[in-house]
Amino acid sequence: MKLGQGKLSRRRLLGGAAAASAALPVLHELIPHEGLHGGGAAAAAEPHMHGMGSNGGGAHAAHLGAVGTVDPRANGFDPQEILRDFDEGRIVNGVREWELVAEEKEIEVAPGVKYAAWAYNGRVPGPTLRAREGERLRIRFTNGSKHPHTIHFHGIHPSSQDGVAGLGAGNVEPGQSTTYEFVAEPFGLHLYHCHTMPLAEHIAKGLYGAFIIDPKNARPRADELVMVMNGFDTNFDRSNEVYAVNTVAFDYMHRPVRVKRGELVRIYLVNLLEFDPLNSFHIHANFFDYFPTGTRLEPRDFTDTVIQGQGERGVIELRFPYTGKYMFHAHVSEFAELGWMGFFEVEG
Ligand code: CU
Ligand code: CU
Repeated sequence: MKLGQGKLSRRRLLGGAAAASAALPVLHELIPHEGLHGGGAAAAAEPHMHGMGSNGGGAHAAHLGAVGTVDPRANGFDPQEILRDFDEGRIVNGVREWELVAEEKEIEVAPGVKYAAWAYNGRVPGPTLRAREGERLRIRFTNGSKHPHTIHFHGIHPSSQDGVAGLGAGNVEPGQSTTYEFVAEPFGLHLYHCHTMPLAEHIAKGLYGAFIIDPKNARPRADELVMVMNGFDTNFDRSNEVYAVNTVAFDYMHRPVRVKRGELVRIYLVNLLEFDPLNSFHIHANFFDYFPTGTRLEPRDFTDTVIQGQGERGVIELRFPYTGKYMFHAHVSEFAELGWMGFFEVEG
């Protein structure tokens, strides 16, 4: 069942009014309340937050059908694996090469919530491309979908390689291919995404990914994680009904991100949310160094919350001094309640 076929807004999801329709899966049931605010506080908080009246608590009882998790095998990608999956391509005659294919693919973004995505290499987000500063890069792009697309990389390069309509190869029509080639600079954390109009749609459908350029002198060894903050407009009203890191709502609540006590953890955090101007990342019971865009090796901030606009990204470094479960989530509470929250599980 596609949510897009029903009239369902995120306000109604939050307010519990959607419970009137038994056919619609409702996200609230997915929230493990005990870890969230303690007790039933999450349910109690809805009516006054969203002005939806006093039915929030009662609505919960009707949501039982939505319990479950997303099967990563059905999607063909797993948020657990995306965390530590870095695609270094292959070196051919001194050039680092990748092949990317855009395709149309239905994915499950929350239990029972299907979304007709557009994906690079069958994944949302697309592969995390990783190179070293100064290398020559070549990306062979094939458009296997029914709409024109491009790949626009952030970084420094000639306009002909910018992946924009009217420049260089411009829009790549269905069934066509092109090659982008440029030098990897500057070092830092970047992103790539389709740049065909209407832009918001082509990005929101899932054509994006993280793009890491390592400095010539590598950063210190760490347990490295990629977190692409995203959202899904499941009813095409230009606002998101589902929020996540690496696509599947609440996945890291069900299956916490496992890290080791005392070890340096480095998070490549990219905001690819459309329709909402700001997103954020907040960690509980800890602080982190923050390197905006990853383009300097000295942190700018020592904090527990960072805000990113659309297309903004940065590198987070931290260590967990204690074992146990530590929450991380958008400090935009509405996003957290609609899927953007998770746990770190710190092991000894
Ligand atoms: Cu596109
Ligand atoms: Cu961009």
